[in-house]
Formats: sequence, structure tokens, C-alpha cells
Amino acid sequence: MKKTKIILAVGARPNYMKAAPVYFELKKYKKFQPLLVHTGQHYDAGLSKVFFDDLKLPRPDIHLGLGSGTHAVQTGKIMVAFEKVCLKEKPDLVVVVGDVNSTIACALVAAKLWIQVAHVEAGLRSFDRTMPEEINRLLTDQISDYLFTTCVDADENLLREGIDKRKIFFVGNTMIDSLNKHLKAARAARAWEKLGLGNGPYALMTLHRPSNVDDRKTLQRVFDGVNPVAQGLPVVFPVHPRTLKQLDGITWTRYDRKAGKGILNLAPLGYLGFLGLMERASRVLTDSGGIQEETTILGEPCLTLRDNTERPITVEQGTNMLVGNDPDRIVRVARRQLRMGKRRKCTPKYWDGRAAIRIAKILNLQFRR
Ligand code: UD1
Repeated sequence: MKKTKIILAVGARPNYMKAAPVYFELKKYKKFQPLLVHTGQHYDAGLSKVFFDDLKLPRPDIHLGLGSGTHAVQTGKIMVAFEKVCLKEKPDLVVVVGDVNSTIACALVAAKLWIQVAHVEAGLRSFDRTMPEEINRLLTDQISDYLFTTCVDADENLLREGIDKRKIFFVGNTMIDSLNKHLKAARAARAWEKLGLGNGPYALMTLHRPSNVDDRKTLQRVFDGVNPVAQGLPVVFPVHPRTLKQLDGITWTRYDRKAGKGILNLAPLGYLGFLGLMERASRVLTDSGGIQEETTILGEPCLTLRDNTERPITVEQGTNMLVGNDPDRIVRVARRQLRMGKRRKCTPKYWDGRAAIRIAKILNLQFRR
């Protein structure tokens, strides 16, 4: 029997934990032949290999090794190389995840070759077109044949944009599939001990959005808000390479181990180390998208250093608060949250660890031979 060949395309850090559960579920069906293709958008071991190891993903079947560049260069390079892969492999379906440049590049190639496209995490909208991810999300959804959504508001966004409702499947959140599967191992990794944080409280921060870090004046404003927070408790800060390049000349309070406060900067962490640290943190400050969802499931107070979010469910139902990058607001909300302590955990509909099972079932029905 000829198998249904499905390329699962990944490229950057937030793709892996969303794609892994889909890959493992597809593998369970004899009729499917999943092929893992890595574009190489992220190439540092700390942003790529460690995630494959932690998630127990096999090495990619095809690694394009394309690396960084301006948006046009990166997207263009991925398209040229991925087209060759599609012409050679002739997949029946290309699955893309999330909203990074690899997502739109691979979707666009497949759609123009009349290969069906499935988008995992479709329909999220920040309504802010200055975000490259918003452009990637909008365009990927327009050319996808299967739109797998994480929440009802994503379905509503897609319907409003004129997407045929027969293409939309509300399946839940595959990133939470990964979280549920790996939380025990993440706890066992005890990353906080390795950092010498003992049993005391700490906050965890990530920063990498171009709107926060690319302009040093804006980045300084963020630190003007975080520095006073770090006077009260250590702020653990795994630094993204985009942000590392900008830190020169920024005033920030270095970690003082004796006093147990300040900002503790580190290299990016792997999936398990970060997840374990996040669960145990007394609050999280971030401009990431996925972390807003993970903190919601963990019941972890989250201050999002952005003015908008494509994940409003994390504010409405979860623990997320949008604080932008105004220093006074960051300090005020962080202090208020500290007084409030941990919030109740909440599980939005279908964020139950079974999203990838639903996706594979749907594809099984769609690809009858
Ligand atoms: C990308 C995604 C973003 C996602 C983020 C997660 C796009 C448009 N952006 O942003 O949505 O939230 O990944 O990390 O796709 N670099 C390295 N090593 C690497 C990769 C990048 O040093 O392995 C440096 C390079 O200098 C590069 C810069 O980081 O120019 C930015 O990398 P890029 O992949 O373009 O975007 P991210 O900021 O990582």
C-alpha cells in the first residue's frame, strides 16, 4: 500500500514542542509516512538540538541548514530549498506550525505546487501588523487547507476573514500536549538547583520581540521596569541571541549571589530546564507568545511585556496580564501580583493533552485511500 507522505516542517524554537506531538501521533498510523524537515532558521544547539533531545524527537529526515537573514533573505532561502524538497519527495500534505518565517515560507511553496497544507495553531491574531508573526499567520491561514485551531476566538477570526468553515478544526493546543507529557521530567531536572537558587523565590524573564529589543531606548525602558522588581527577588533571564546583541550599554542590575537579588543572565535553556524553572517561578515576565499559554496551564502569574496578544484567552481565562513596556506599569503590576501570590490553574477547552490525537484522527479521515 502506498503510504500518505506528510512533511512536517519546523524551523525555530517555538515550533518543536508544537510539532512533536503531531509527529508522534502520525507515526502511530501505518498509512502515514511522516517526514521531519528542519529549515535551520534556528541553528544554535541551545535553540534547536537541545529541544530535539528533550522532546525525544528523532534527527530531522532533512535538514536544510539555512540560518539567519533579513526577512526576505530568510524566507526566500527557505522557499528555494523547500521547493526542491517538495519536488523530490512529492508529499501528499505539508504540515506547518506556529507563525515563524519557516511557517509561511514552507506553506507558500506547498500551496503553489498544489500540495495540501495544514496549519497547526491557525487563526491567532494580535491585530498588530507591525509584528512579522502576524503577517505570517494571516498569509499562512489564507493558503491552508486544514486549519487546526487552539481556541474558539481563532475560529471566529478565520470565519471573519472569509475562510470556509469546513476547513477549520478546533482541536486544542499541541504545545500543551508537550507540556503535559514532559512536566514530570522537567521537575526532575531541578534546574533551579543547578543555578544555585536554592529553595527561595525567583522570577523568570524572557525577552526577544523586535519591538522590545531591537531599539536600545525601548530595551532600556523595559529594564527600567525590571530592575526594581529584581531588587525584591532574583530574576532569572535566559538571553535570546537577538537580545544578547543589544545588551551593550543597557543599565541593568546584575545578580548578586550573596544578597540573592538582581538579574541572573544565562544562555538560552532547553525545553525541560525552562519548563521546570517556569513552573517553580513566583512570576514570569515575557514577550513570548507560547509562554503566555504555558503559564496559564501552570497557574503561574505572567506579565506580558507587550501591548497586545494574539492569545486573549490567556488574559480572559488564564493568569496573563498585558503590561507593555512602560517601566512604572511593569513595577506596579509586578508588585501587585507578588501580593496576590499564585493564581488558580485553568484549562481552556481542549488544552487537555489530546490535541495531536484529534489532528491525526482528522487527517486519517481526510486521507482515505
Ligand atoms: C524567531 C521568530 C519568532 C519566535 C522566535 C523564537 C520569525 C519572524 N520570528 O525570532 O516569532 O518567537 O524565533 O526564538 O520567524 N540567531 C542566533 N542563533 C540562532 C538563531 C538566531 O544567533 O540559532 C540570531 C541571529 O543573529 C539572527 C537573530 O538571532 O539574526 C534573529 O533570529 P531569527 O530567526 O531571524 O528571529 P528570532 O528573533 O529568533
